[in-house]
Amino acid sequence: MSFNKEINRYGTNSLKYDFKKNKNKPDDVFPMWVADMDFKAPKSVIKEMNKRIKHGIFGYSQTDLEYFESVYNWYKKNFKVTLKEEWLIKTPGVVFALATAVKILTKEKDYVLINNPVYYPFTEVVVDNNRKIVSSDLVLEEGKYHIDFDDMERKIKKYKIKLYLLCSPHNPVGRVWQKEELDKIIEICRRNSVFIVSDEIHSDFVWKGKHRCLLRYKGYLDNMIVCTSPSKTFNLAGLQTSNIFIPNKNVRDDFQNEIWKTGYSLVNIMGIVACKAAYDKGSYWLENLKKYLKDNIDFVDNFLKERLPKVKLIYPEGTYLLWLDFRELKLSDDEINKIMLNDAKLWLDGGAMFGKTGKGFQRLNIALPRKKLKWALEQIERAFKYDE
Ligand SMILES: Cc1ncc(COP(=O)(O)O)c(C=O)c1O
Repeated sequence: MSFNKEINRYGTNSLKYDFKKNKNKPDDVFPMWVADMDFKAPKSVIKEMNKRIKHGIFGYSQTDLEYFESVYNWYKKNFKVTLKEEWLIKTPGVVFALATAVKILTKEKDYVLINNPVYYPFTEVVVDNNRKIVSSDLVLEEGKYHIDFDDMERKIKKYKIKLYLLCSPHNPVGRVWQKEELDKIIEICRRNSVFIVSDEIHSDFVWKGKHRCLLRYKGYLDNMIVCTSPSKTFNLAGLQTSNIFIPNKNVRDDFQNEIWKTGYSLVNIMGIVACKAAYDKGSYWLENLKKYLKDNIDFVDNFLKERLPKVKLIYPEGTYLLWLDFRELKLSDDEINKIMLNDAKLWLDGGAMFGKTGKGFQRLNIALPRKKLKWALEQIERAFKYDE
């Protein structure tokens, strides 16, 4: 398991590496934006996929009870949740599921609640479906973000919110919402009849505290959809397989019907094989990966403190996406983005993409070999020291 090994991803149809021109980025930038990792998936996963490739027939495929059992065991062991088979609907992605939820749970022109700064497709799936966004912005205090519950409830009432998209753990600010916070969310949503879609795609990467799956709230099961996937955890995003849990039968039927309307019905065969193998055999690899990622995070933290103290890391409780605060440099968002691309020669996600409260921040993906990470930090240091 050598996470230190640099692997060339150019020429592999990698969204991160091979499509700079399409995304209007200079050819010479090093990509540290989209949330996939520069590491190979676990050997046990690749082995199972190879077996299927050798078989050589890639016909229509569907998941069976064994697949569900693998997912069930993962959630039982890691999150103390007892899944039911009928709750499970597979989609080609979590974002696809978010969009489907928006379509079935709201009407055009309805408002949907989010907490900016948040993963930008949360806004896109709402706006692209002719709904409107209301953000109860997260509040940053002493290096940590929290939810302003009074503001949230006020907005729920004012905008007659029926649907809340929760990012748990939260990308990009790295919060892992704790029991007291989730209790409060449930309390407010219950009081105001708000349905929650909880995107838990980052739940396997927790550095501090524990991820609490929303399905633990048994009394609120009828009012939630929980979106999961092994794609971040085991670097399988290109295989397009997500597991969406919907305990409420009526909602589940509506969700399934909405999917059928798109013409999508069957799951990618390699996604099935990889997901099952990852959940069955990937734990040991994941433990090692987490150690490596945690060391990468500490490396960034120490580097910035020692060499570029005006740029502050919002130390994450979860995820491998780091939220860097450049505001002390007193540069506009545009200036930061330009320096990052043209001087540091790095392609990060600019903070404003995550809502206006993200201005002055950058999101950095640290799931790569440490040597390369060190090089990238030195690039940032060189480019931004001038502006101190
Ligand atoms: C919070 C969150 N949800 C969803 C996704 C993407 O999920 P998918 O590729 O399954 O649509 C990401 C990827 O970065 C993410 O960070």
